[in-house]
Amino acid sequence: MRDDECRPRQISSSLAITNRELAETRIRLAQETEAERKRISRDLHDQTLADLRHLLVAIDQIPPAGPSPTSPSQLRNDVEMISNEIRHICEDLSPSVLANVGLLPALEWALSDCVSHLPQERKFDYEFIAEAGIEESLSLTPTEQIQIYRILQEAISNASRHAEAAHVRLSIKRRNKADSIIELEDDGKGFDSEIGSNKTGYGLANIRSRADIIGAQVSWVRRAPHGCVFTLLKANCVASSPE
Ligand SMILES: Nc1ncnc2c1ncn2[C@@H]1O[C@H](COP(=O)(O)OP(=O)(O)O)[C@@H](O)[C@H]1O
Ligand SMILES: [Mg+2]
Repeated sequence: MRDDECRPRQISSSLAITNRELAETRIRLAQETEAERKRISRDLHDQTLADLRHLLVAIDQIPPAGPSPTSPSQLRNDVEMISNEIRHICEDLSPSVLANVGLLPALEWALSDCVSHLPQERKFDYEFIAEAGIEESLSLTPTEQIQIYRILQEAISNASRHAEAAHVRLSIKRRNKADSIIELEDDGKGFDSEIGSNKTGYGLANIRSRADIIGAQVSWVRRAPHGCVFTLLKANCVASSPE
């Protein structure tokens, strides 16, 4: 059989494999969401509710008059601790930084927050660059913003855990007027989509699947002389600026 006669069969079989992988990733994301809900419900039940019950018991022991076994400052500390727990649980459910400051500052914060939690010897320099006026022109639904935030969180986490980079740059700019490009560039040991296709971690698969959900394209390209550029391209999300 000639070479060009084999090609359509090869393409359709690799398409079938890609479709199967996509379906598997979707199922796994749904399972992870379910596992996450269970964890949050467990946290609320075992931790937060239990703490509130202890607080109730402590309050019940306060006599209507006279000295109390629990000091007001102790009660205050307990309430503070429970509030912090609830805040963490809410943060897991929906990143408050996104709602509070908007997507671009949230992305900048994700990068600086990641570096701030690294031990001194693994910290790297970083910069965040946003094209002038892009923030006001971006038109993204809350779901798209959350998916983009989660995608960049994972890409940043990968750069910090695997790249051994000295410098990381996160940038956002427009392309072809209506499309936007977010790039995360590191000068680490290097990585690209080809290598990525045979890696077994869930991070890359989740990034691809999240991108698929919002109709964005993602890629990892080796950077010269070393490092990696992760790109997220989202078409038609930049409103045209008034001429
Ligand atoms: N920026 C990067 N630089 C170097 N290697 C990377 C980078 N991003 C991802 N990788 C590689 O891709 C692999 C898979 O990543 P991922 O699917 O997120 O799984 P995990 O982070 O759990 O290892 C990583 O183990 C690492 O080898
Ligand atoms: Mg990862």
